[in-house]
This record gives sequence, C-alpha cells and structure tokens, in this order.
Amino acid sequence: MFSRVSLAGLTLFASLAQVLAQIPAGCDRTYTVALGDTCNSISAAQNVSTFQLAFVNPGINADCSNLFAGEILCLGITGQDCTNTTVIQSGDFCAEIADEAGIDLSTLLDNNPNVNPDCTNIVVGEVLCTASTIIPY
Ligand SMILES: *[C@@H]1O[C@H](CO)[C@@H](O)[C@H](O)[C@H]1NC(C)=O
Ligand SMILES: *[C@@H]1O[C@H](CO)[C@@H](O)[C@H](O)[C@H]1NC(C)=O
Repeated sequence: MFSRVSLAGLTLFASLAQVLAQIPAGCDRTYTVALGDTCNSISAAQNVSTFQLAFVNPGINADCSNLFAGEILCLGITGQDCTNTTVIQSGDFCAEIADEAGIDLSTLLDNNPNVNPDCTNIVVGEVLCTASTIIPY
C-alpha cells in the first residue's frame, strides 16, 4: 500500500515538474531524460554542445545534478542550434579540434562561450560545437 502511494506521489511530482519545466519557444528538438543520464552523456549522444544544453535549459544546475528521469529537455532552438559537435578526448586541445573540424579557432571559441580564450578549461567528455558558422546565442 505504502509503495503504491509513494509511486503515485512520484508520478504526480514528475508530471508537475514536466509541466513547470520551461520548454523554450522555437525549440526544434527535445530529449526525454532516462535513468543514469548525465549532461555530458546526453550532449554526446544527441550532438548538442555542453554550452548549448545548459544555455537552452537554465533549470539545469551548475553541476548538472538535478536531472530526473522523464524530464523533457530542449536540445536546440531554431536558428541557434549547433548540431556539429565533438566530444573532448584526453589530450585534445582547441587548435587541434578546430583544425580537424576545418574551422577557425576563433569560430570554435565563439561557438563555445564556456571555453576560456586559452582553452585551458576543457575537460574530457565535454562536448564542443564545431559548426563552421557562428551560432547567434
Ligand atoms: C550525431 O552525429 C553523428 C555524426 O554526424 C550521427 O551519425 C548521429 O546520427 C547523430 N545523432 C543524432 C542523435 O543526431
Ligand atoms: C556540419 O558537418 C557537415 C558534415 O561534416 C558539413 O557538411 C556541414 O557544413 C557542417 N555544418 C556546419 C554548420 O558546420
């Protein structure tokens, strides 16, 4: 009995949270969070940069610890959706990533505002936008 009540409560909470979550206007793709997902795993699998996922979903906290299964995230907004991405591997550096993507380093930095100008703050598993055009975030 207790577990049924708890389950009903959880389901209600999840539905309410979904309704309250802000799916922004112009969202052109969405993703439903599954158990065990992290921001970086979602970003890598869905071709969305780490910056863009956070930018489009301001409800996600800084260390991405408040995702829950069933939550609907927006992955990109029409006209501001970078779908060309790369996942940072050990030893990667920005000039090399830009080179491999065939883009200027300045384009890479413009499209990933979370990366510092010297590119010393990228981490393995982070996803960068490698689009050749400037995304107007
Ligand atoms: C992500 O990009 C890769 C490489 O372009 C592609 O093979 C894959 O289908 C894309 N995945 C999604 C979910 O768009
Ligand atoms: C995305 O990648 C594809 C395949 O490499 C390329 O043809 C296309 O021009 C790229 N688009 C952008 C906006 O960078």
